[in-house]
Amino acid sequence: MAIPSHRSSAIQDTLLRCRRQFLAVGLFSLCVNVLMLTSSLYMMQVYDRVLASGSTETLVLLTVIALGALGVMAALDAVRSRVLGRLGTWFEAHLAPEALSRGLEAALSDLPYRAEALRDLGLIRTCLTGPGMLALFDAPWVPVYIAAIYLIHPMLGHVAVAGALLLFALARLNEALTQRQIRTAGERAMAAARTAEALMRNAEVIDAMGLHNSLTAHWQQQNHQALRLQEQAVERGSLISAITKAVRQALQMAALAVGAALVIQHEATAGVMIGASIILSRALAPVEMAIGSWRNLVQSREAARRLNALFDRSRIRPETLALPKPRGHLSVEGLVYAPSPTAPLLLRGVSFTVQPGEALAVLGPSGAGKSSLARLLIGTRRPRAGCVRLDGADVANWERGEFGQHVGYLPQEVALFDGTVAENIARLGAASAAEIVDAAQIAGAHELILRLPQGYETRVGEQGGLLSGGQRQRIGLARALLRRPRLIVLDEPNANLDAEGEAALNQAIAAMKRTASLRPTAGAAGPQIAQIVQPLSQE
Ligand SMILES: Nc1ncnc2c1ncn2[C@@H]1O[C@H](COP(=O)(O)OP(=O)(O)OP(=O)(O)O)[C@@H](O)[C@H]1O
Ligand SMILES: [Mg+2]
Repeated sequence: MAIPSHRSSAIQDTLLRCRRQFLAVGLFSLCVNVLMLTSSLYMMQVYDRVLASGSTETLVLLTVIALGALGVMAALDAVRSRVLGRLGTWFEAHLAPEALSRGLEAALSDLPYRAEALRDLGLIRTCLTGPGMLALFDAPWVPVYIAAIYLIHPMLGHVAVAGALLLFALARLNEALTQRQIRTAGERAMAAARTAEALMRNAEVIDAMGLHNSLTAHWQQQNHQALRLQEQAVERGSLISAITKAVRQALQMAALAVGAALVIQHEATAGVMIGASIILSRALAPVEMAIGSWRNLVQSREAARRLNALFDRSRIRPETLALPKPRGHLSVEGLVYAPSPTAPLLLRGVSFTVQPGEALAVLGPSGAGKSSLARLLIGTRRPRAGCVRLDGADVANWERGEFGQHVGYLPQEVALFDGTVAENIARLGAASAAEIVDAAQIAGAHELILRLPQGYETRVGEQGGLLSGGQRQRIGLARALLRRPRLIVLDEPNANLDAEGEAALNQAIAAMKRTASLRPTAGAAGPQIAQIVQPLSQE
Protein backbone atom coordinates (compact mmCIF):
# COMPACT_ATOMS: atom_id res chain seq x y z
CA MET A 1 0.00 0.00 0.00
CA ALA A 2 1.26 3.46 -0.80
CA ILE A 3 0.63 4.87 2.64
CA PRO A 4 3.41 4.41 5.19
CA SER A 5 2.30 3.95 8.75
CA HIS A 6 4.42 6.54 10.53
CA ARG A 7 2.75 9.76 9.52
CA SER A 8 0.26 11.77 11.44
CA SER A 9 -1.52 13.41 8.54
CA ALA A 10 -2.36 10.78 5.96
CA ILE A 11 -5.42 12.75 4.86
CA GLN A 12 -3.52 16.01 4.35
CA ASP A 13 -0.72 14.15 2.57
CA THR A 14 -3.16 12.48 0.22
CA LEU A 15 -4.77 15.84 -0.51
CA LEU A 16 -1.32 17.30 -1.12
CA ARG A 17 -0.85 14.75 -3.86
CA CYS A 18 -3.72 16.51 -5.63
CA ARG A 19 -2.06 19.91 -5.45
CA ARG A 20 -2.03 20.24 -9.23
CA GLN A 21 -5.76 19.71 -9.34
CA PHE A 22 -6.25 22.16 -6.49
CA LEU A 23 -4.06 24.65 -8.33
CA ALA A 24 -6.19 24.19 -11.43
CA VAL A 25 -9.35 24.77 -9.39
CA GLY A 26 -7.68 27.87 -7.92
CA LEU A 27 -6.91 29.19 -11.43
CA PHE A 28 -10.43 28.47 -12.63
CA SER A 29 -11.70 30.21 -9.51
CA LEU A 30 -9.57 33.24 -10.38
CA CYS A 31 -11.14 33.43 -13.84
CA VAL A 32 -14.64 32.73 -12.55
CA ASN A 33 -14.28 35.45 -9.95
CA VAL A 34 -13.01 37.99 -12.46
CA LEU A 35 -15.84 37.10 -14.83
CA MET A 36 -18.30 37.45 -11.95
CA LEU A 37 -17.68 41.18 -12.27
CA THR A 38 -19.36 41.05 -15.69
CA SER A 39 -22.87 41.95 -14.57
CA SER A 40 -21.76 44.88 -12.42
CA LEU A 41 -19.47 46.25 -15.12
CA TYR A 42 -22.26 45.79 -17.67
CA MET A 43 -24.67 47.68 -15.45
CA MET A 44 -22.22 50.51 -14.88
CA GLN A 45 -21.59 50.79 -18.62
CA VAL A 46 -25.28 50.69 -19.52
CA TYR A 47 -26.12 53.38 -16.96
CA ASP A 48 -23.20 55.65 -17.65
CA ARG A 49 -22.47 55.14 -21.35
CA VAL A 50 -25.53 53.78 -23.12
CA LEU A 51 -28.08 55.93 -21.30
CA ALA A 52 -25.84 59.00 -21.56
CA SER A 53 -25.02 58.54 -25.26
CA GLY A 54 -28.29 56.90 -26.32
CA SER A 55 -26.33 54.56 -28.62
CA THR A 56 -28.10 51.31 -29.42
CA GLU A 57 -24.99 49.90 -31.10
CA THR A 58 -22.99 50.28 -27.86
CA LEU A 59 -25.81 48.53 -26.00
CA VAL A 60 -25.82 45.61 -28.45
CA LEU A 61 -22.04 45.35 -28.39
CA LEU A 62 -21.90 45.48 -24.57
CA THR A 63 -24.63 42.88 -24.30
CA VAL A 64 -22.86 40.51 -26.70
CA ILE A 65 -19.57 40.88 -24.80
CA ALA A 66 -21.27 40.42 -21.43
CA LEU A 67 -23.18 37.33 -22.58
CA GLY A 68 -19.96 35.86 -23.96
CA ALA A 69 -18.21 36.48 -20.64
CA LEU A 70 -21.08 34.87 -18.74
CA GLY A 71 -20.90 31.82 -21.02
CA VAL A 72 -17.19 31.43 -20.37
CA MET A 73 -17.83 31.88 -16.65
CA ALA A 74 -20.47 29.14 -16.62
CA ALA A 75 -18.15 26.78 -18.48
CA LEU A 76 -15.23 27.42 -16.11
CA ASP A 77 -17.48 27.09 -13.09
CA ALA A 78 -18.70 23.73 -14.36
CA VAL A 79 -15.15 22.60 -15.06
CA ARG A 80 -13.90 23.46 -11.59
CA SER A 81 -16.80 21.62 -9.96
CA ARG A 82 -16.00 18.68 -12.17
CA VAL A 83 -12.32 18.71 -11.25
CA LEU A 84 -13.27 18.78 -7.57
CA GLY A 85 -15.79 15.98 -8.12
CA ARG A 86 -13.18 13.75 -9.72
CA LEU A 87 -10.65 14.66 -7.10
CA GLY A 88 -13.15 13.63 -4.42
CA THR A 89 -13.77 10.29 -6.10
CA TRP A 90 -10.04 9.66 -6.46
CA PHE A 91 -9.45 10.65 -2.84
CA GLU A 92 -12.05 8.24 -1.52
CA ALA A 93 -11.08 5.40 -3.84
CA HIS A 94 -7.41 5.89 -2.97
CA LEU A 95 -7.85 5.78 0.79
CA ALA A 96 -10.80 3.38 1.10
CA PRO A 97 -8.80 0.12 0.87
CA GLU A 98 -6.40 1.36 3.54
CA ALA A 99 -9.32 2.53 5.71
CA LEU A 100 -10.99 -0.86 5.32
CA SER A 101 -7.84 -2.76 6.25
CA ARG A 102 -7.23 -0.44 9.21
CA GLY A 103 -10.85 -0.96 10.25
CA LEU A 104 -10.30 -4.73 10.14
CA GLU A 105 -7.19 -4.33 12.28
CA ALA A 106 -9.17 -2.24 14.75
CA ALA A 107 -11.77 -5.01 14.89
CA LEU A 108 -9.03 -7.57 15.57
CA SER A 109 -7.74 -5.36 18.40
CA ASP A 110 -11.25 -4.86 19.87
CA LEU A 111 -11.11 -1.13 19.13
CA PRO A 112 -14.34 0.69 18.31
CA TYR A 113 -13.64 2.85 15.22
CA ARG A 114 -14.01 0.38 12.31
CA ALA A 115 -16.51 0.68 9.47
CA GLU A 116 -16.98 4.29 10.61
CA ALA A 117 -13.69 5.05 8.87
CA LEU A 118 -15.33 4.44 5.48
CA ARG A 119 -18.26 6.66 6.41
CA ASP A 120 -15.83 9.39 7.42
CA LEU A 121 -14.05 9.13 4.09
CA GLY A 122 -17.37 9.63 2.33
CA LEU A 123 -18.03 12.66 4.52
CA ILE A 124 -14.73 14.24 3.48
CA ARG A 125 -15.42 13.48 -0.18
CA THR A 126 -18.83 15.16 0.01
CA CYS A 127 -17.26 18.18 1.63
CA LEU A 128 -14.45 18.33 -0.96
CA THR A 129 -16.99 18.50 -3.76
CA GLY A 130 -19.57 20.67 -2.01
CA PRO A 131 -20.37 24.39 -1.92
CA GLY A 132 -18.29 24.96 1.23
CA MET A 133 -15.15 23.99 -0.66
CA LEU A 134 -15.95 26.35 -3.55
CA ALA A 135 -16.55 29.10 -1.00
CA LEU A 136 -13.06 28.46 0.38
CA PHE A 137 -11.66 28.86 -3.13
CA ASP A 138 -13.60 32.07 -3.64
CA ALA A 139 -12.63 33.53 -0.25
CA PRO A 140 -9.12 34.69 -1.31
CA TRP A 141 -10.80 37.01 -3.84
CA VAL A 142 -12.65 38.95 -1.17
CA PRO A 143 -9.71 41.41 -0.72
CA VAL A 144 -9.40 41.76 -4.50
CA TYR A 145 -13.03 42.75 -4.82
CA ILE A 146 -12.66 45.15 -1.93
CA ALA A 147 -9.62 46.71 -3.62
CA ALA A 148 -11.75 47.10 -6.77
CA ILE A 149 -14.39 48.90 -4.72
CA TYR A 150 -11.67 51.19 -3.27
CA LEU A 151 -10.69 52.05 -6.80
CA ILE A 152 -14.26 53.11 -7.49
CA HIS A 153 -14.43 55.29 -4.40
CA PRO A 154 -12.63 55.19 -1.01
CA MET A 155 -15.87 55.82 0.90
CA LEU A 156 -17.42 52.70 -0.68
CA GLY A 157 -14.21 50.83 0.10
CA HIS A 158 -14.57 51.69 3.81
CA VAL A 159 -18.10 50.31 3.78
CA ALA A 160 -16.82 47.10 2.17
CA VAL A 161 -14.00 46.65 4.71
CA ALA A 162 -16.35 47.22 7.63
CA GLY A 163 -18.78 44.72 6.12
CA ALA A 164 -16.11 42.08 5.53
CA LEU A 165 -14.82 42.43 9.11
CA LEU A 166 -18.34 42.11 10.46
CA LEU A 167 -19.02 38.96 8.45
CA PHE A 168 -15.69 37.38 9.41
CA ALA A 169 -16.53 38.09 13.04
CA LEU A 170 -19.86 36.31 12.51
CA ALA A 171 -18.03 33.36 10.93
CA ARG A 172 -15.70 33.13 13.94
CA LEU A 173 -18.66 33.34 16.30
CA ASN A 174 -20.34 30.54 14.35
CA GLU A 175 -17.25 28.39 14.76
CA ALA A 176 -17.00 29.09 18.48
CA LEU A 177 -20.68 28.40 19.09
CA THR A 178 -21.03 25.18 17.14
CA GLN A 179 -17.70 23.39 16.97
CA ARG A 180 -17.95 21.49 20.26
CA GLN A 181 -21.53 20.43 19.60
CA ILE A 182 -20.70 19.17 16.13
CA ARG A 183 -17.74 17.18 17.39
CA THR A 184 -19.57 15.58 20.33
CA ALA A 185 -22.69 14.96 18.24
CA GLY A 186 -20.54 13.06 15.72
CA GLU A 187 -19.08 10.86 18.45
CA ARG A 188 -22.48 10.17 20.02
CA ALA A 189 -24.04 9.40 16.64
CA MET A 190 -21.30 6.87 15.98
CA ALA A 191 -21.83 5.19 19.34
CA ALA A 192 -25.58 5.04 18.66
CA ALA A 193 -24.96 3.53 15.22
CA ARG A 194 -22.74 0.86 16.80
CA THR A 195 -25.44 0.04 19.34
CA ALA A 196 -28.04 -0.21 16.56
CA GLU A 197 -25.80 -2.57 14.58
CA ALA A 198 -25.34 -4.80 17.62
CA LEU A 199 -29.14 -4.84 18.07
CA MET A 200 -29.64 -5.90 14.45
CA ARG A 201 -27.28 -8.82 14.95
CA ASN A 202 -29.36 -9.99 17.90
CA ALA A 203 -32.75 -9.44 16.32
CA GLU A 204 -33.90 -13.00 17.06
CA VAL A 205 -33.08 -12.92 20.75
CA ILE A 206 -34.62 -9.48 21.11
CA ASP A 207 -37.82 -10.60 19.43
CA ALA A 208 -38.05 -13.92 21.25
CA MET A 209 -37.62 -12.49 24.73
CA GLY A 210 -39.41 -9.21 24.16
CA LEU A 211 -36.33 -7.08 24.80
CA HIS A 212 -37.41 -4.61 22.17
CA ASN A 213 -38.53 -1.82 24.48
CA SER A 214 -35.69 -1.83 26.98
CA LEU A 215 -32.99 -2.11 24.33
CA THR A 216 -34.60 0.50 22.11
CA ALA A 217 -34.71 2.82 25.09
CA HIS A 218 -30.97 2.36 25.59
CA TRP A 219 -30.28 3.11 21.94
CA GLN A 220 -32.70 5.99 21.88
CA GLN A 221 -30.96 7.64 24.79
CA GLN A 222 -27.65 7.61 22.92
CA ASN A 223 -29.24 8.71 19.69
CA HIS A 224 -31.22 11.41 21.41
CA GLN A 225 -28.06 12.92 22.86
CA ALA A 226 -26.53 13.04 19.41
CA LEU A 227 -29.67 14.55 17.92
CA ARG A 228 -29.95 17.17 20.66
CA LEU A 229 -26.37 18.31 20.15
CA GLN A 230 -26.85 18.35 16.40
CA GLU A 231 -30.03 20.32 16.77
CA GLN A 232 -28.22 22.82 18.98
CA ALA A 233 -25.46 23.20 16.37
CA VAL A 234 -27.99 23.57 13.57
CA GLU A 235 -30.03 26.13 15.54
CA ARG A 236 -27.01 28.23 16.38
CA GLY A 237 -25.59 27.87 12.89
CA SER A 238 -28.83 28.85 11.21
CA LEU A 239 -29.29 31.83 13.54
CA ILE A 240 -25.86 33.09 12.51
CA SER A 241 -26.66 32.26 8.88
CA ALA A 242 -29.85 34.28 9.06
CA ILE A 243 -28.04 37.21 10.66
CA THR A 244 -25.35 36.95 7.98
CA LYS A 245 -27.88 37.12 5.17
CA ALA A 246 -29.54 40.17 6.67
CA VAL A 247 -26.19 41.83 7.32
CA ARG A 248 -25.09 41.25 3.75
CA GLN A 249 -28.27 42.80 2.39
CA ALA A 250 -27.90 45.68 4.82
CA LEU A 251 -24.33 46.18 3.62
CA GLN A 252 -25.52 46.22 0.03
CA MET A 253 -28.05 48.87 1.02
CA ALA A 254 -25.34 50.79 2.84
CA ALA A 255 -23.23 50.72 -0.31
CA LEU A 256 -26.22 51.99 -2.30
CA ALA A 257 -26.88 54.72 0.27
CA VAL A 258 -23.25 55.85 0.31
CA GLY A 259 -23.24 55.65 -3.50
CA ALA A 260 -26.42 57.74 -3.67
CA ALA A 261 -24.89 60.33 -1.33
CA LEU A 262 -21.85 60.46 -3.62
CA VAL A 263 -24.11 60.86 -6.66
CA ILE A 264 -25.93 63.71 -4.94
CA GLN A 265 -22.59 65.35 -4.23
CA HIS A 266 -21.61 64.70 -7.86
CA GLU A 267 -18.69 62.56 -6.78
CA ALA A 268 -19.95 59.47 -8.59
CA THR A 269 -22.37 58.41 -11.32
CA ALA A 270 -25.51 56.31 -10.89
CA GLY A 271 -23.80 53.41 -12.68
CA VAL A 272 -20.94 53.45 -10.19
CA MET A 273 -23.42 53.44 -7.32
CA ILE A 274 -25.20 50.31 -8.54
CA GLY A 275 -22.06 48.56 -9.79
CA ALA A 276 -20.25 49.04 -6.47
CA SER A 277 -23.20 47.68 -4.55
CA ILE A 278 -23.27 44.56 -6.72
CA ILE A 279 -19.51 44.04 -6.43
CA LEU A 280 -19.82 44.33 -2.67
CA SER A 281 -22.49 41.69 -2.46
CA ARG A 282 -20.36 39.47 -4.70
CA ALA A 283 -17.29 40.09 -2.52
CA LEU A 284 -19.07 38.96 0.62
CA ALA A 285 -20.95 35.99 -0.89
CA PRO A 286 -18.18 33.41 -0.14
CA VAL A 287 -18.21 34.38 3.54
CA GLU A 288 -21.94 33.86 3.69
CA MET A 289 -21.65 30.57 1.82
CA ALA A 290 -18.87 29.36 4.12
CA ILE A 291 -20.99 30.12 7.18
CA GLY A 292 -23.90 28.25 5.56
CA SER A 293 -21.84 25.12 5.00
CA TRP A 294 -19.75 25.48 8.14
CA ARG A 295 -21.17 22.35 9.73
CA ASN A 296 -19.99 20.25 6.78
CA LEU A 297 -16.54 21.79 6.96
CA VAL A 298 -16.24 21.12 10.70
CA GLN A 299 -17.66 17.61 10.35
CA SER A 300 -15.16 16.69 7.71
CA ARG A 301 -12.33 18.24 9.71
CA GLU A 302 -13.35 15.99 12.61
CA ALA A 303 -13.56 13.04 10.23
CA ALA A 304 -10.04 13.80 9.01
CA ARG A 305 -8.83 13.93 12.62
CA ARG A 306 -10.33 10.53 13.40
CA LEU A 307 -8.98 9.01 10.18
CA ASN A 308 -5.51 10.41 10.81
CA ALA A 309 -5.54 8.84 14.26
CA LEU A 310 -6.58 5.51 12.71
CA PHE A 311 -3.91 5.67 10.01
CA ASP A 312 -1.41 6.69 12.63
CA ARG A 313 -1.76 3.52 14.69
CA SER A 314 1.06 1.09 14.35
CA ARG A 315 0.22 -1.85 12.13
CA ILE A 316 -0.60 -5.05 13.94
CA ARG A 317 1.95 -6.80 11.74
CA PRO A 318 5.29 -5.56 10.46
CA GLU A 319 6.00 -5.85 6.74
CA THR A 320 7.90 -9.09 6.28
CA LEU A 321 9.68 -10.91 3.54
CA ALA A 322 8.00 -13.68 1.59
CA LEU A 323 8.64 -17.09 3.13
CA PRO A 324 8.78 -20.47 1.39
CA LYS A 325 5.88 -22.88 1.74
CA PRO A 326 6.13 -24.43 5.21
CA ARG A 327 6.52 -28.17 5.69
CA GLY A 328 4.29 -28.03 8.73
CA HIS A 329 6.41 -28.10 11.91
CA LEU A 330 4.34 -26.29 14.50
CA SER A 331 6.04 -25.34 17.72
CA VAL A 332 4.38 -23.44 20.54
CA GLU A 333 6.94 -21.95 22.89
CA GLY A 334 6.07 -20.66 26.37
CA LEU A 335 2.84 -18.88 25.42
CA VAL A 336 1.62 -16.32 27.92
CA TYR A 337 -1.62 -14.66 26.92
CA ALA A 338 -4.33 -12.37 28.22
CA PRO A 339 -7.23 -11.40 25.95
CA SER A 340 -6.94 -7.70 26.84
CA PRO A 341 -4.32 -5.51 28.54
CA THR A 342 -6.38 -5.39 31.73
CA ALA A 343 -7.60 -9.01 31.76
CA PRO A 344 -5.89 -11.63 33.95
CA LEU A 345 -3.62 -14.17 32.26
CA LEU A 346 -5.48 -16.93 30.46
CA LEU A 347 -2.56 -18.99 29.24
CA ARG A 348 0.59 -19.30 31.33
CA GLY A 349 3.57 -20.87 29.66
CA VAL A 350 1.88 -23.22 27.17
CA SER A 351 4.39 -25.22 25.12
CA PHE A 352 3.99 -28.12 22.71
CA THR A 353 4.99 -29.18 19.24
CA VAL A 354 3.01 -30.81 16.43
CA GLN A 355 4.88 -32.53 13.66
CA PRO A 356 3.69 -32.84 10.06
CA GLY A 357 1.12 -35.59 9.92
CA GLU A 358 0.14 -35.25 13.58
CA ALA A 359 -3.22 -34.19 14.91
CA LEU A 360 -3.75 -32.68 18.31
CA ALA A 361 -6.99 -32.15 20.18
CA VAL A 362 -7.20 -29.65 23.01
CA LEU A 363 -9.88 -30.25 25.62
CA GLY A 364 -11.06 -28.01 28.40
CA PRO A 365 -14.10 -26.44 30.05
CA SER A 366 -15.85 -23.32 28.82
CA GLY A 367 -13.69 -20.26 29.18
CA ALA A 368 -10.51 -22.32 29.54
CA GLY A 369 -8.98 -20.51 26.59
CA LYS A 370 -9.30 -23.04 23.77
CA SER A 371 -10.56 -20.53 21.22
CA SER A 372 -7.93 -18.07 22.41
CA LEU A 373 -5.24 -20.69 21.82
CA ALA A 374 -6.64 -21.34 18.34
CA ARG A 375 -6.43 -17.61 17.54
CA LEU A 376 -2.83 -17.56 18.73
CA LEU A 377 -2.01 -20.57 16.57
CA ILE A 378 -3.17 -18.79 13.43
CA GLY A 379 -1.42 -15.58 14.46
CA THR A 380 -4.58 -13.49 14.65
CA ARG A 381 -3.83 -12.61 18.26
CA ARG A 382 -0.45 -11.87 19.75
CA PRO A 383 0.79 -13.51 22.96
CA ARG A 384 2.20 -11.42 25.83
CA ALA A 385 5.25 -13.65 25.79
CA GLY A 386 6.41 -16.71 23.93
CA CYS A 387 5.52 -17.45 20.35
CA VAL A 388 3.97 -19.82 17.87
CA ARG A 389 6.25 -20.92 15.05
CA LEU A 390 5.44 -22.72 11.84
CA ASP A 391 8.65 -24.08 10.34
CA GLY A 392 10.53 -21.74 12.67
CA ALA A 393 8.77 -18.51 11.57
CA ASP A 394 6.56 -16.55 13.95
CA VAL A 395 2.97 -16.95 12.70
CA ALA A 396 1.88 -13.58 14.13
CA ASN A 397 4.28 -11.76 11.79
CA TRP A 398 3.63 -13.84 8.69
CA GLU A 399 2.27 -11.87 5.75
CA ARG A 400 -1.42 -12.74 5.77
CA GLY A 401 -2.10 -13.28 2.08
CA GLU A 402 0.68 -15.80 1.96
CA PHE A 403 0.10 -17.40 5.35
CA GLY A 404 -3.55 -17.98 4.49
CA GLN A 405 -2.51 -20.21 1.58
CA HIS A 406 -0.98 -22.65 4.01
CA VAL A 407 -3.62 -22.49 6.70
CA GLY A 408 -7.20 -23.58 7.16
CA TYR A 409 -9.24 -22.17 10.02
CA LEU A 410 -12.73 -22.98 11.19
CA PRO A 411 -13.85 -20.55 13.90
CA GLN A 412 -16.22 -21.54 16.66
CA GLU A 413 -18.99 -19.31 15.32
CA VAL A 414 -18.94 -20.03 11.62
CA ALA A 415 -19.96 -16.95 9.65
CA LEU A 416 -19.86 -17.42 5.89
CA PHE A 417 -19.39 -14.67 3.31
CA ASP A 418 -22.47 -13.44 1.49
CA GLY A 419 -22.07 -15.38 -1.74
CA THR A 420 -22.58 -18.87 -3.14
CA VAL A 421 -21.43 -22.09 -1.47
CA ALA A 422 -18.74 -22.48 -4.15
CA GLU A 423 -17.50 -18.90 -3.63
CA ASN A 424 -17.30 -19.56 0.10
CA ILE A 425 -15.31 -22.74 -0.25
CA ALA A 426 -13.06 -20.92 -2.75
CA ARG A 427 -12.56 -18.27 -0.01
CA LEU A 428 -13.91 -15.70 -2.52
CA GLY A 429 -10.79 -16.26 -4.60
CA ALA A 430 -10.02 -18.02 -7.83
CA ALA A 431 -10.14 -21.75 -7.16
CA SER A 432 -10.91 -24.34 -9.82
CA ALA A 433 -14.11 -26.39 -9.67
CA ALA A 434 -11.96 -29.47 -9.03
CA GLU A 435 -10.31 -27.85 -6.00
CA ILE A 436 -13.67 -26.75 -4.60
CA VAL A 437 -15.24 -30.19 -5.01
CA ASP A 438 -12.11 -31.83 -3.58
CA ALA A 439 -12.32 -29.68 -0.44
CA ALA A 440 -16.06 -30.40 -0.10
CA GLN A 441 -15.47 -34.12 -0.56
CA ILE A 442 -12.75 -34.31 2.10
CA ALA A 443 -14.99 -32.32 4.44
CA GLY A 444 -17.77 -34.80 3.72
CA ALA A 445 -19.97 -31.92 2.61
CA HIS A 446 -20.27 -32.76 -1.10
CA GLU A 447 -23.58 -34.70 -0.83
CA LEU A 448 -24.99 -32.16 1.60
CA ILE A 449 -24.17 -29.36 -0.87
CA LEU A 450 -25.67 -31.24 -3.82
CA ARG A 451 -28.92 -31.53 -1.84
CA LEU A 452 -29.14 -27.73 -1.51
CA PRO A 453 -31.59 -26.03 -3.93
CA GLN A 454 -28.92 -24.84 -6.38
CA GLY A 455 -26.10 -27.10 -5.25
CA TYR A 456 -22.77 -25.32 -5.23
CA GLU A 457 -24.44 -22.20 -6.64
CA THR A 458 -26.81 -21.82 -3.67
CA ARG A 459 -26.52 -18.39 -2.07
CA VAL A 460 -25.81 -18.63 1.66
CA GLY A 461 -27.09 -15.16 2.66
CA GLU A 462 -25.50 -12.66 5.02
CA GLN A 463 -23.15 -14.54 7.37
CA GLY A 464 -24.49 -17.77 5.88
CA GLY A 465 -27.84 -17.11 7.56
CA LEU A 466 -29.85 -19.00 4.93
CA LEU A 467 -28.20 -22.26 5.98
CA SER A 468 -28.60 -24.32 9.15
CA GLY A 469 -25.90 -24.20 11.81
CA GLY A 470 -24.67 -27.67 10.87
CA GLN A 471 -24.66 -26.93 7.13
CA ARG A 472 -22.72 -23.76 7.80
CA GLN A 473 -20.18 -25.62 9.89
CA ARG A 474 -19.62 -28.31 7.28
CA ILE A 475 -19.22 -25.77 4.47
CA GLY A 476 -16.88 -23.83 6.79
CA LEU A 477 -14.87 -27.03 7.19
CA ALA A 478 -14.64 -27.40 3.41
CA ARG A 479 -13.48 -23.78 3.21
CA ALA A 480 -10.75 -24.58 5.76
CA LEU A 481 -9.61 -27.60 3.76
CA LEU A 482 -9.31 -25.85 0.37
CA ARG A 483 -6.10 -26.92 -1.38
CA ARG A 484 -5.23 -29.13 1.60
CA PRO A 485 -3.33 -26.59 3.70
CA ARG A 486 -0.34 -27.44 5.89
CA LEU A 487 -1.87 -26.30 9.14
CA ILE A 488 -5.55 -26.75 9.91
CA VAL A 489 -7.05 -25.26 13.06
CA LEU A 490 -10.61 -26.26 13.86
CA ASP A 491 -12.38 -24.66 16.82
CA GLU A 492 -15.09 -27.00 18.09
CA PRO A 493 -15.76 -28.35 14.60
CA ASN A 494 -18.43 -30.70 15.93
CA ALA A 495 -20.39 -28.12 17.91
CA ASN A 496 -23.46 -27.99 15.65
CA LEU A 497 -23.31 -31.41 14.10
CA ASP A 498 -25.80 -34.27 14.23
CA ALA A 499 -24.69 -37.90 14.19
CA GLU A 500 -24.34 -37.80 10.41
CA GLY A 501 -22.32 -34.59 10.64
CA GLU A 502 -20.08 -36.06 13.34
CA ALA A 503 -19.50 -39.09 11.16
CA ALA A 504 -18.69 -36.81 8.21
CA LEU A 505 -16.24 -34.86 10.37
CA ASN A 506 -14.54 -38.02 11.54
CA GLN A 507 -14.41 -39.23 7.97
CA ALA A 508 -12.93 -35.89 6.96
CA ILE A 509 -10.20 -36.33 9.54
CA ALA A 510 -9.74 -39.91 8.38
CA ALA A 511 -9.56 -38.75 4.76
CA MET A 512 -6.98 -36.16 5.66
CA LYS A 513 -5.20 -38.93 7.47
CA ARG A 514 -5.23 -41.03 4.31
CA THR A 515 -3.95 -38.23 2.12
CA ALA A 516 -1.47 -36.98 4.70
CA SER A 517 -0.85 -40.01 6.95
CA LEU A 518 -2.57 -38.37 9.88
CA ARG A 519 -2.58 -39.92 13.28
CA PRO A 520 -6.17 -40.06 14.58
CA THR A 521 -7.18 -37.19 16.83
CA ALA A 522 -7.45 -37.85 20.50
CA GLY A 523 -10.83 -37.39 22.14
CA ALA A 524 -12.51 -35.81 19.16
CA ALA A 525 -15.92 -36.08 20.78
CA GLY A 526 -17.81 -33.80 23.12
CA PRO A 527 -18.65 -30.17 22.56
CA GLN A 528 -15.60 -28.52 24.16
CA ILE A 529 -12.93 -29.25 21.62
CA ALA A 530 -10.50 -26.96 19.97
CA GLN A 531 -8.98 -29.27 17.48
CA ILE A 532 -5.77 -28.68 15.68
CA VAL A 533 -5.28 -30.95 12.76
CA GLN A 534 -1.91 -31.07 11.13
CA PRO A 535 -1.50 -32.99 7.87
CA LEU A 536 1.78 -34.46 6.82
CA SER A 537 3.93 -32.51 4.46
CA GLN A 538 3.23 -33.65 0.90
CA GLU A 539 6.78 -33.12 -0.31
N1 LIG B 1 -11.67 -10.08 23.44
C1 LIG B 1 -11.70 -10.45 24.71
N2 LIG B 1 -11.62 -9.53 25.71
C2 LIG B 1 -11.65 -9.91 26.98
N3 LIG B 1 -11.78 -11.17 27.38
C3 LIG B 1 -11.88 -12.13 26.47
C4 LIG B 1 -11.84 -11.82 25.08
N4 LIG B 1 -11.96 -12.97 24.39
C5 LIG B 1 -12.04 -13.96 25.31
N5 LIG B 1 -12.00 -13.45 26.56
C6 LIG B 1 -12.03 -14.23 27.80
O1 LIG B 1 -11.07 -15.25 27.70
C7 LIG B 1 -11.56 -16.43 28.31
C8 LIG B 1 -11.35 -17.60 27.39
O2 LIG B 1 -12.15 -17.45 26.25
P1 LIG B 1 -12.13 -18.55 25.08
O3 LIG B 1 -13.09 -18.12 24.07
O4 LIG B 1 -10.74 -18.77 24.67
O5 LIG B 1 -12.66 -19.84 25.85
P2 LIG B 1 -12.98 -21.29 25.29
O6 LIG B 1 -12.11 -22.23 26.02
O7 LIG B 1 -12.90 -21.30 23.82
O8 LIG B 1 -14.47 -21.47 25.77
P3 LIG B 1 -15.68 -22.21 25.03
O9 LIG B 1 -15.52 -23.66 25.22
O10 LIG B 1 -16.87 -21.71 25.76
O11 LIG B 1 -15.65 -21.80 23.61
C9 LIG B 1 -13.01 -16.17 28.68
O12 LIG B 1 -13.07 -16.00 30.07
C10 LIG B 1 -13.36 -14.89 27.98
O13 LIG B 1 -14.17 -14.11 28.82
MG1 LIG C 1 -14.20 -21.50 22.33
